Amino acid sequence: MSPARRAPAFSERAFYLREFRGRTLAIACRPAALREPRRLRAVVDTLVRNGTRVLVVSSSGDALRRVVGDRVVEEREAAPIWRALRREGRLGVCTGNDANFVEACCALAARWRVFKLVWIDSGGGLRVGRRRLSFVHRDELRALLADTTERRAPLLRGIDRLLDQGVEAINLCTLAGLREELFTYDGSGTLFTRDRYIEVRPLSIDDFDAARGMIARGVKEGALLRRSPAEVDRALSAGLGAFVEGRHLAGVVSVLDYPGSGAGEVACLYTLTRYLGEGVGAELIEFALADARRLGLQQLFACTTNGAAARFFRRRGFVRVARSRVPDAKWQGYDPRRLARVRVYARETAGA
Ligand SMILES: CC(C)(COP(=O)(O)OP(=O)(O)OC[C@H]1O[C@@H](n2cnc3c(N)ncnc32)[C@H](O)[C@@H]1OP(=O)(O)O)[C@@H](O)C(=O)NCCC(=O)NCCS
Repeated sequence: MSPARRAPAFSERAFYLREFRGRTLAIACRPAALREPRRLRAVVDTLVRNGTRVLVVSSSGDALRRVVGDRVVEEREAAPIWRALRREGRLGVCTGNDANFVEACCALAARWRVFKLVWIDSGGGLRVGRRRLSFVHRDELRALLADTTERRAPLLRGIDRLLDQGVEAINLCTLAGLREELFTYDGSGTLFTRDRYIEVRPLSIDDFDAARGMIARGVKEGALLRRSPAEVDRALSAGLGAFVEGRHLAGVVSVLDYPGSGAGEVACLYTLTRYLGEGVGAELIEFALADARRLGLQQLFACTTNGAAARFFRRRGFVRVARSRVPDAKWQGYDPRRLARVRVYARETAGA
C-alpha cells in the first residue's frame, strides 16, 4: 500500500483556494486598469490552475485580450458561458459601452449568479476617515448610500442590488491589492455580504486546518499563549467556530475543562482581522458560556496580556481576579515572562 500523502502545510492562500475550487468567480475591471495586465493575468492563472472558473468582464475587447488572450466573447446567457468556461477555464466578457459599465456588469453577475464578484476600482475599498471598512453587510451599505456625498454611489447601488439578487459576496479593491484581497485573511479592500449573519458551531475535522492556522497567527502576534501540539489538539477538539454567512470561518474559541475544579478556561479566542469589531468575539463568548454550563462548570476564566482583550472581557461580565483563583494546573510550565504580564478575568457561568 502506498503511504498516505502528507497534507501540505496550511496557508491562508490554500484556505481560500479551497473555498474557490470548482466555483465561478467574476472580476469586473474597466479598460484603464488593464493597460498593465500582468497582475490580473497572474491571479487569473492561479485561480484557473486551482480549478476555479474565471470570468473577466470589461467594456473593451482589446483590453480583455491582454488578460485572457482570444477567449473573449460578447455572449451573455449563462449556459453558453458555462459551456465555454468548461472548455477554457477563463473567459473575457465584453460589455461594449463603457458609459453603463456598472449596470451591465451587475446585470451579468446577477444573471450568472456567480458566488463572488470582484470589482477592481482605483479607489479600492470603502473608508470612513482613515479607517478601511473591510467587511460591510447590506444594512451598513444602505446607511452609507444614504450619505449622498459618496462618490461611488452608482457602484454601491449596483452592489446592493446584487446582494439582493443572490450574489453571495462582492469584493471591492484595487488591482494592486487583488491578490491580498482574494488570498489573505486581512484582505486589502471591502467585502460586501448580504447579512451580518454569524453562526457558531463546534469545529468539524475539516475546519481544523484553518482553525490551527488562526491559533498560530494569534501566537505569532503575541496575543495567544504558545501551546504544545497536544494542547492545541485539545483546543481544536473542544473548539467552536464562528462562521460568517454560515460558511466563512471568522473566529475560534475553546473551553478547556480543568477536571474536578468546576472551572473552565476560555482558550484560543481569536477573530480574524477582517471581522474584528463585528460581534464575532461576543458571539463566541456567549457560546463558550453555554458550553461551560453544558460541561457542568460554574466558572469560566480567561488569561490575557492584551489591554484591548482585557476590556473586551470586562464588558462581557468578567472581573479581574488573582492568579490564585484559577486551578494550579493552569500555571504548570507557564512561560515565566508571560506570567509576569498576564491578567486573569473570571465570571460565573450561571445567569449568562
Ligand atoms: C479579543 C477579540 C477576540 C475580540 O474579537 P471581536 O470579534 O473583535 O469582538 P467583538 O466584535 O464582539 O467586540 C470587540 C469590541 O471592540 C470594538 N471594536 C470596534 N471596532 C473594532 C476593531 N476594528 N477592532 C477591534 N475591536 C473593535 C467593538 O465595538 C466591541 O466593543 P464592545 O466590547 O464594547 O462590544 C479580538 O480582538 C482578538 O482576536 N484579539 C486577539 C486574540 C486575543 O487577545 N484573545 C483573547 C485571549 S484568550
